Amino acid sequence: MQAAADSEGGTVVFSRLAGGILDILRSFRGEYLSGEEIARQMSVSRTAIWKHVRELRELGYGVSAGGKLGYRLDSIPDRLYPAEVRAGLGTQFIGRADIHYYREVTSTNEVARDLGEQGAPAGTVVVAEAQVQGRGRLRRSWWSPPEKGVWMSVLLRPELLPGEVFLLSFATAVAVARAIGRLLPLEAHIKWPNDILVGGKKVAGILLEVKAELDQVHYVVVGMGLNVNQEEADFPPELRSRATSLRQAAGQPVARVPLVREILAGLEDEYFGLARGEGERLWQEWRNLDITVGRPVEVVTSAGSCSGLAAGVTREGRLVLRLPGGEIQEFAAGDVTLAGSRWNPDIP
Ligand code: BTN
Repeated sequence: MQAAADSEGGTVVFSRLAGGILDILRSFRGEYLSGEEIARQMSVSRTAIWKHVRELRELGYGVSAGGKLGYRLDSIPDRLYPAEVRAGLGTQFIGRADIHYYREVTSTNEVARDLGEQGAPAGTVVVAEAQVQGRGRLRRSWWSPPEKGVWMSVLLRPELLPGEVFLLSFATAVAVARAIGRLLPLEAHIKWPNDILVGGKKVAGILLEVKAELDQVHYVVVGMGLNVNQEEADFPPELRSRATSLRQAAGQPVARVPLVREILAGLEDEYFGLARGEGERLWQEWRNLDITVGRPVEVVTSAGSCSGLAAGVTREGRLVLRLPGGEIQEFAAGDVTLAGSRWNPDIP
């Protein structure tokens, strides 16, 4: 458990005592434990326990006090506190070093990039309840309202060549789509390059930022934004036709902490797979989830727009478009709009 509360940078972490009390109460979930016993285990006074139980309540934990019975943990808030994300996190290095939690931040990618510059270890996670300058692809802003989504960045230091880094965005897209499918009765798909769609609308986006030299990657910031608990009316009107949330799609509120854990574990699996040279497997997984290839699409880039059939994605992650005249054009970046139904799902 980390020390210090609400430090200057906006990070919220529990006092060491509150964290310790939480661990003890968690292991007795549903049962009362006397203040005296907790005080004994923590080697502090009962007054200190009382004070820090109050801190836990202020952080959103439901802790009831039953007189002589002591304290009982009744409920856990759906906040992305490091202590919650770590409890039951099945990873070896992602989220194991540091999880930096903010109530509000400019952009988790920006914070993760600063941490990358300062030499923070691979696997460092930055998560925020809200972003005020959330960044999207193609220099767009990313709407990140408080406590409604997962706004998270992971710092990685992969042994990849700069030209292979796009594989991490494929790995992330697969991890996010899989996590949704595993935890919710929903089918998530990937739209090139790495939008996650449910029911044809975007629920999540991925933004990689890379610090590299010609032949060496220093670090990669993997940013992901998931719309989780917004209602339709919460969305800015201009997004409503294109974006949705997991809650809207599933018809029920969605707990964010298990989602974060599942995504981090899935990302780590894919990352280890890449390190073992299993790029081909990742490639297949990505293709199984992709809904772009085989469809008529419109690709919009800074140079204009182009319509055609999405005929494939190259090993370098570029979208291959077959134009109406039969010519082939490749795109490294751009926005894809799907038109009509799948023409030929077997196109490679
Ligand atoms: C997209 O345009 O689809 C990518 C959106 C990526 C948004 C996430 S939210 C967490 C991280 N921090 C940012 O500022 N952006 C990414």
